[in-house]
Amino acid sequence: MPVAGIDVGSLSTEVVILHEGKIAAAVMLPTGANSRTAANRAMEQALSQSGFTLDALENVVATGYGRVSVPFAHAKVTEITCHGRGAHFLDPEVRTVIDIGGQDSKVICLNKQGKVVDFLMNDKCAAGTGRFLEVMCQALEVGLADFSRLALITVEAVPISSMCTVFAESEVISLIADGYPREKIIRGIIASIVERTEAMAGRIGVVEKVMMTGGVAKNRGVVEALQDALGVRIALPEDPQLVGALGAALLAQDGQQGRTTMSL
Ligand SMILES: Nc1ncnc2c1ncn2[C@@H]1O[C@H](COP(=O)(O)OP(=O)(O)OP(=O)(O)O)[C@@H](O)[C@H]1O
Ligand SMILES: [Mg+2]
Repeated sequence: MPVAGIDVGSLSTEVVILHEGKIAAAVMLPTGANSRTAANRAMEQALSQSGFTLDALENVVATGYGRVSVPFAHAKVTEITCHGRGAHFLDPEVRTVIDIGGQDSKVICLNKQGKVVDFLMNDKCAAGTGRFLEVMCQALEVGLADFSRLALITVEAVPISSMCTVFAESEVISLIADGYPREKIIRGIIASIVERTEAMAGRIGVVEKVMMTGGVAKNRGVVEALQDALGVRIALPEDPQLVGALGAALLAQDGQQGRTTMSL
């Protein structure tokens, strides 16, 4: 019987439908202002992609900050558990997962069995998250793709000293006005996000193999700088933004097979 996982994040909503151990549908949409609408829309698209009806889904697990607003979910599980489950499924050798999404960042430690043994999360401020990068892109008038591309031009960074997104944004605007090249400002922005992640990773201890999940893993500039800072190679899934929903779908499958879905 088919099962589904849905991850309603602050910026993006994903649905994965699994059937007979294979991905029957995978959908990603912006969450927008209403998480419930996003959840319904993403599920409708995934159902039409897979050809199943909602009633045919044996088990649906919801995750992400908007998991409480998913009307059709049978169970709700934290993102920590889902990203851990998804990463372990994609590569059982992964012991550390770094998830940087739109509004928070996490470092998750897994044991050999893929069970979450420890984690640290920064959900107190936007700095160090995807939202921070988006605000900076707006200030620099570049898209996310150009931001990643420009980051690879130089390793020289103009340091950004403000710790807060709002102040960092005005700092970046001043640096642009002062004529600093955009690529060096971008390296400074990346250095600030990497510093925060490195501090969190240092507190919990990084054990290889390391995998990065969440949308910021699509930013090559951030991934490469983080690899250098941590001194490890970072494995990237085919689509890092889908890992939470994939993990939720796998937990739905576990539940269907009579095992209890974990909840942290
Ligand atoms: N193509 C891309 N290139 C570079 N960065 C990207 C790309 N797509 C998304 N991102 C980054 O990913 C971030 C969103 O990540 P994600 O979709 O994992 O967040 P979320 O799950 O909605 O948020 P959260 O888990 O914090 O609630 C964006 O803010 C952006 O910085
Ligand atoms: Mg997320």
